[in-house]
Amino acid sequence: MGKASRDKRDIYYRKAKEEGWRARSAFKLLQIDEEFNIFEGVKRVVDLCAAPGSWSQVLSRKLFLPAKLSPASGKFCLFGKVPSLLFAVSNDLIVKLITFYLIKICRDGDLPLIVAIDLQPMAPIEGVIQVQGDITNARTAELVIRHFDGCKADLVVCDGAPDVSVMIYSYWLHDMDEFVQSQLILALKLFFPIVTFAKPKSSRNSSIEAFAVCENYSPPEGFNEKDLHRLLEKVGSPSGADDLDCRSGWLEGPNKVYIPFLACGDLSGYDSDQSYPLPKVAEGTYQSLDPVQPPIAPPYKRALELKKASSHGIRELERLSLDS
Ligand SMILES: C[S@@+](CC[C@H](N)C(=O)[O-])C[C@H]1O[C@@H](n2cnc3c(N)ncnc32)[C@H](O)[C@@H]1O
Repeated sequence: MGKASRDKRDIYYRKAKEEGWRARSAFKLLQIDEEFNIFEGVKRVVDLCAAPGSWSQVLSRKLFLPAKLSPASGKFCLFGKVPSLLFAVSNDLIVKLITFYLIKICRDGDLPLIVAIDLQPMAPIEGVIQVQGDITNARTAELVIRHFDGCKADLVVCDGAPDVSVMIYSYWLHDMDEFVQSQLILALKLFFPIVTFAKPKSSRNSSIEAFAVCENYSPPEGFNEKDLHRLLEKVGSPSGADDLDCRSGWLEGPNKVYIPFLACGDLSGYDSDQSYPLPKVAEGTYQSLDPVQPPIAPPYKRALELKKASSHGIRELERLSLDS
């Protein structure tokens, strides 16, 4: 498929290039913010699974750059917003990790601190500290906490998708998905009184993608993050501790947990599943833009090199056999 036809088929892909975003996902975060105002008062934020960096760009443009340009930057104030959390619905491992990042409330700094983590390196973004590492590794979490001087994050965003690299029968995957998602909901409700699933307008209807927006982090009384794994193991299991009210009975009868599901972004705006005509195409002057910043070391790079080398090798063999 040519770039221009993708521009036509995917309006958010085209708009992302026009507005300088590294990926169309930027619009998802912007539309979630339109609905939930997630950036209000945020001074410390973690972007999990950040590469190629469009969400980090949003954080930089929404938080860092305005603060840097503001004449009031440098003012010192106390800050007490309760942390929030937003992440793509995937698995409870992410919940475990994210909770590591939410440790202690402390004083405000000068400019907002943005820490972005990914397995992949990414090109620099103004005001964004990059940590290359695995979000499921506690050492990565410790690194981030060090960047925050031991303070708690106000906001954690995560756009990671589980790496399903093995073939699994789809019906099993579906059942597994339902199971994982119900576990996830229980885990989230344990830590956040307000949980909403959001579907931004820029997320295709044809995709089952949705984002969990979790507000007002309030862990169970006496919660010690060192016991997190033990606690989450109990979530949804019939032997779950009574005092945590996290038994599987939660999902039955009158105890059933309902999570609001909200569409967000301008609902009369661009539809991500629709094709739009390209501007100036009638005059034949439409110029498709290049992506703003392609991944700098994508995992598929080696595969492409090998493919290129092997097709070159085949051509070389063909040339030799013609010569002989
Ligand atoms: C959909 S992309 C994120 C796009 C990003 N939000 C943006 O706006 O540009 C998912 C990313 O998750 C990263 N990822 C997956 N598993 C990870 C892990 N365990 N630790 C860190 N990053 C991970 C991948 O390397 C990939 O870059």
